[in-house]
Amino acid sequence: MKGCKFVKKHLTLMLTCIMTILLVACSTEDKATEVEPAPEAVEQKSPKDIKIGFSMDTLQEDRWFKDRDLFLKTAKAAGVEVEVTVANGDDVKQIWQTEKMISEGIDVLVVVPHNAESMAAIVERAHDAGIKVLSYDRLVRNAEVDLYLSYDNEQVGILQATAMTEMVPKGNYVYLGGADTDYNAHLMKQGVFKVLKPYIEKGDITVVFDQWTKDWIPDVAKKNMETALEVNHQKINAVIAGNDATAGAAIEALEAYNLAGSIPVAGQDADLAGVQRIVAGTQNLTMYKSINDLSERAVELAIKLALGEDIQEDRTINNGKINVPSILLPPVPVDQTNIRETVIADGFHQEDDVYNQ
Ligand code: BGC
Repeated sequence: MKGCKFVKKHLTLMLTCIMTILLVACSTEDKATEVEPAPEAVEQKSPKDIKIGFSMDTLQEDRWFKDRDLFLKTAKAAGVEVEVTVANGDDVKQIWQTEKMISEGIDVLVVVPHNAESMAAIVERAHDAGIKVLSYDRLVRNAEVDLYLSYDNEQVGILQATAMTEMVPKGNYVYLGGADTDYNAHLMKQGVFKVLKPYIEKGDITVVFDQWTKDWIPDVAKKNMETALEVNHQKINAVIAGNDATAGAAIEALEAYNLAGSIPVAGQDADLAGVQRIVAGTQNLTMYKSINDLSERAVELAIKLALGEDIQEDRTINNGKINVPSILLPPVPVDQTNIRETVIADGFHQEDDVYNQ
């Protein structure tokens, strides 16, 4: 009888243990279901839920109107909302406008910095809010930029100087750089001087004037060109300018000395006025950068960044802090021989506007 009681007591104990284990297992399973929702329950964002903040420096040059309008057109076709701000070359305003967009809620920031260094603070601010940053056309320096999309600016300089040295292998060169605060201007200058270096070392080319153009302002470039002409008693054989607006200003200065058309000038952007000057023979070269291609890629990549999708970069560019994943499109040199098959074929300009002015 005593043995029977012992077996009964142990059996009850075992049953209680099994019940407890089963209960614990069940409740753990319940908790797991609560904490990790089934994958199909996770909300998937689609492009239609995305809002892009597009912070632009300026609309001073023709090209930036195209950048803005084509960006908006591509985004609209993808069903993506965009808020555009333009800072008119004012750093404080650009920072303030961008901070406002971040705090009001955007999913990704696309930025064309006026000042490459000042916008670093905004990259940090965006990251704190979980927003990725695409540096558009111009690189933000010293910040953990997520992606840089531009034309190859060093290549712009290389192509300008290569064409120029073919036209003018010996002589006095004037270099009218872009804005010191724009890193593109530095990359272009690197490209130009890479090509000029051996000519300079041989003593064939002398760079008699080399200045930045504050904020890319054409009047500043014109004054610089006037100084270059005066100081060198007009003994100048070639002019390389940062863009078409500054090239146009340099040509105005040359006109005052009746030298427009006899001294080769290079610019970039394929602005309508620049292409018209090429037709007229006062400017020799520009660099065409299809804004259509750039803005379409930008919208596509901004959406990917917002959705957290992988992006295959071409290379990296060091911005002083990190090697920024970068996608760089190739610029195309345009002179009198290929206007029709480049800017006109692409619809960048109309034949009538280029030739019948
Ligand atoms: C751009 C040029 C433009 C210049 C002035 C540069 O960063 O690459 O295309 O002409 O800024 O706005």
